[in-house]
Amino acid sequence: MRLTIERLGHLGDGIAEGPVFVPMALPGEVVEGEVEAGRMASPKIVTPSPGRVKPACPHYRACGGCALMHASDAFVADWKADVVRTALAAQRLEAEFRPVVTSAAHSRRRATLAGRRTKKGALVGFHGRASDTFVEVPGCLLLHPDLIAVMPVLSEITMLGASRKGELALTVTRSDGGVDLAVSGGKPLEQSLFSALADLARRAGFARMSWDGEPVANRRPPVQRFGAASVSPPAGAFLQATEEGEAALVAAVRDAVGNARRIADLFSGCGTFALPLAENAEIHAVEGEAAMLAALDAGWRRAEGLHRVTTEARDLFRRPLMPDELKRYDAVVIDPPRAGAEAQARELAGSGVPVIAAVSCNPVTFARDSRIIAAAGYRLDWVQVVDQFRWSPHVEVVARFSR
Ligand SMILES: C[S@@+](CC[C@H](N)C(=O)[O-])C[C@H]1O[C@@H](n2cnc3c(N)ncnc32)[C@H](O)[C@@H]1O
Repeated sequence: MRLTIERLGHLGDGIAEGPVFVPMALPGEVVEGEVEAGRMASPKIVTPSPGRVKPACPHYRACGGCALMHASDAFVADWKADVVRTALAAQRLEAEFRPVVTSAAHSRRRATLAGRRTKKGALVGFHGRASDTFVEVPGCLLLHPDLIAVMPVLSEITMLGASRKGELALTVTRSDGGVDLAVSGGKPLEQSLFSALADLARRAGFARMSWDGEPVANRRPPVQRFGAASVSPPAGAFLQATEEGEAALVAAVRDAVGNARRIADLFSGCGTFALPLAENAEIHAVEGEAAMLAALDAGWRRAEGLHRVTTEARDLFRRPLMPDELKRYDAVVIDPPRAGAEAQARELAGSGVPVIAAVSCNPVTFARDSRIIAAAGYRLDWVQVVDQFRWSPHVEVVARFSR
C-alpha cells in the first residue's frame, strides 16, 4: 500500500488517511508497506521529508525509546511547539512562543530501565516499539555516560534479584554522590539477597540503593543541587530529566515571577523551583509527599544566604490553596503531574495573585487549566517549550499569566 503522511500523532507516529498509523514517518512523506490492523509497521520511505535525518543510534529501529530520532532537531522543536499551540487553540487561547530549548544527547540523568532474567543470564534495556519486545541499549545516546557505565551492574542485579517470570524496574539517577538506584518488582529481600545486593552497590560505587522501597545501601548522600542548596531526595523521587532542561525551566520560571517577594510553589517536589527562587523571595512550598518536603527543608537549612522557605504537605487535588490563602503571594508557581491541577486552577482563577508561572508536562491538561485561568481575566503572556525528553514525543512547557 502507498500512503501519504498527513500529520504526527501524540506518540510521534505518522498518521495517514484511514487512519493508518505509520511509525518512523514524517508529515508529507510518501510511504509504502503492508498495513495490518490500521498500522504500517515497517514503512519504506518513498519520498522523504526535508525534516528527515539519519537516526544516530543503531538501536533506533527496534527500541521504543526514541520515536522521533528520524527527524531533525529543528523539525522536532517546531512540532513540539505546534503540539502546545494546537492544545491552546482548542481552548481558544493563543500566546507568544519563545524559542524551544532542547537538551543535548547523553544528558538524561534519570531513567527507568527494565531488567529481565533469561536462560543464559539477564537483559537490561527498554521495551521495544512492538510492546512485547525488549531491547538492550548499550551506548544509548540519551543516557548520561555515568548511567551507561552501570549497565553491567544492573544485569548482575537482575540475575540476582529478578524472579523467573517477573521484570525489574531499575530507576537510575545520577547524583553528586554517585548513582542512586531504586529497584521495584524484585524477589523478596531475604538476608542472602540483601547481602549480595549491598556488596554489589559497594563495588559499583552507588550512592544509595533501595529494593521495593527498602534501603539496601546508603553509602553517600545522593545529592542534587537546586540553586545554592544541596538536597538528598527520597529514593525514586521525581527529578527533572536533564540538568539543562531543569536550568531552562528554572530560568523561565525566574523570568516569569520577576521581582516577586512572596511566592507559593505548588507541587514543589524537592525544591527544583523553590530553592533557586529563595535567593530573592520568601517561599511557601506545597506538595503531597511529606518525604520530598523533608528533603527540601533539610536542603534549605543547610544552605546559606537563602530567604525563608516554609513547607506544607497537602493534597492539592482535594484541598487546593484557596483564594484567601493565595492572596498573600505576589506570584504562584504551579507544576502539577500529568493530570494537571484543575481544582487548584479554579482557586487561582478566583484569587488576586498578580503572576502565575505554570509548568506542565502535558499540553492537554495545561491548556485546559490555562483556559480556566484565562477565563477569569488573566493574560497569557508567553509560552516556553523545553525539550528535555529529546527524540521522544514528550513536551514540557512553562507559561506566564498576569493580571
Ligand atoms: C511534575 S512533578 C514536579 C515537582 C517539582 N516542581 C520539580 O520540578 O521537581 C509533580 C509533583 O506533584 C506532586 N503531586 C502529585 N499529586 C499531588 C497532589 N494531589 N497534591 C500535591 N502534590 C502532588 C508529586 O509528588 C510531584 O512532586
